[in-house]
Amino acid sequence: MTEILRTIAEVRAWRQGLAADQTVGFVPTMGALHAGHISLMELAKGHATVTIASIFVNPLQFGPNEDLAKYPRPIEKDLALLKAAGVDAVFLPAVEELYPTGASTFVVEESVSGPLCGAMRPGHFRGVTTVVLKLFNIVQPHLAVFGQKDAQQCAVIERMVRDLAVPVEIIRGPIVREADGLALSSRNVYLGAEDRAAAPLIFASLQAAKAAFDGGERDATRLAAIGLAVLESDPRIKVQYWDVRDAQSLDAISTMDGHDALFAVAAYLGATRLIDNIVLPRP
Ligand code: PAJ
Repeated sequence: MTEILRTIAEVRAWRQGLAADQTVGFVPTMGALHAGHISLMELAKGHATVTIASIFVNPLQFGPNEDLAKYPRPIEKDLALLKAAGVDAVFLPAVEELYPTGASTFVVEESVSGPLCGAMRPGHFRGVTTVVLKLFNIVQPHLAVFGQKDAQQCAVIERMVRDLAVPVEIIRGPIVREADGLALSSRNVYLGAEDRAAAPLIFASLQAAKAAFDGGERDATRLAAIGLAVLESDPRIKVQYWDVRDAQSLDAISTMDGHDALFAVAAYLGATRLIDNIVLPRP
């Protein structure tokens, strides 16, 4: 049975009811669940004896012109998926429960959250770190699972946990993709037929740059140019960034040598913003 918890007090009571030898694995989400999310639930189940998910469309991480109001909220379907996955509990807080009137305390990571999505979405990672630390304080998990789909989010949370000595182990789950390479995303439902048909070019551009790397190219600027050219070959796709970074610090790098490198892309198809990435272990 999946227990439905709506208040902080209910989560605390549930948490206190667990035996001392249980380990708690936590998967925070914004709902509109798909196989990518469910893979994280499976990973949590493999590492912990009890699993809890959260579904909360966090207003603090959306910009004023972003899709907060229209973000999909298929709650009954989500609960059925969590139940089928064997998740033990789900936290479904209302906005007022997590953000009491006058809430004025925020968590800000100031380095890893700077480039890439941080530069394009001011305040986004401040919203993420604030809600994630708050959820950690409520759930008090031993470990939490995040998807590599949001590579920068993983790096920001790992940095926050290190810097603030948060006693939660962070586990990264691999990106789950459609058969044609498109990374699963709750936002894929926004894509019209033609944009959906173009979308696999995002992963193809990452693969093209990887092929050049595998062929011996080590210059980060040239690798990014190769990927960008592939992605820009379709005029439907408006590229926001195609970047090569150190995978942990997200610092810009000029050569692949000496780095685990992140190839990271953000692009618009119509009004829909999609991101994807791959990590290349240091050569
Ligand atoms: P959301 O976008 O719902 O994603 C929840 C988790 O699922 C994140 O860790 C994300 O990286 C992971 N995920 C999404 N698509 C995936 C895919 N195709 N394969 C593997 N994992 C995937 O990320 C958030 O919510 C929020 O920022 C949150 C952390 C919940 C804070 O509000």
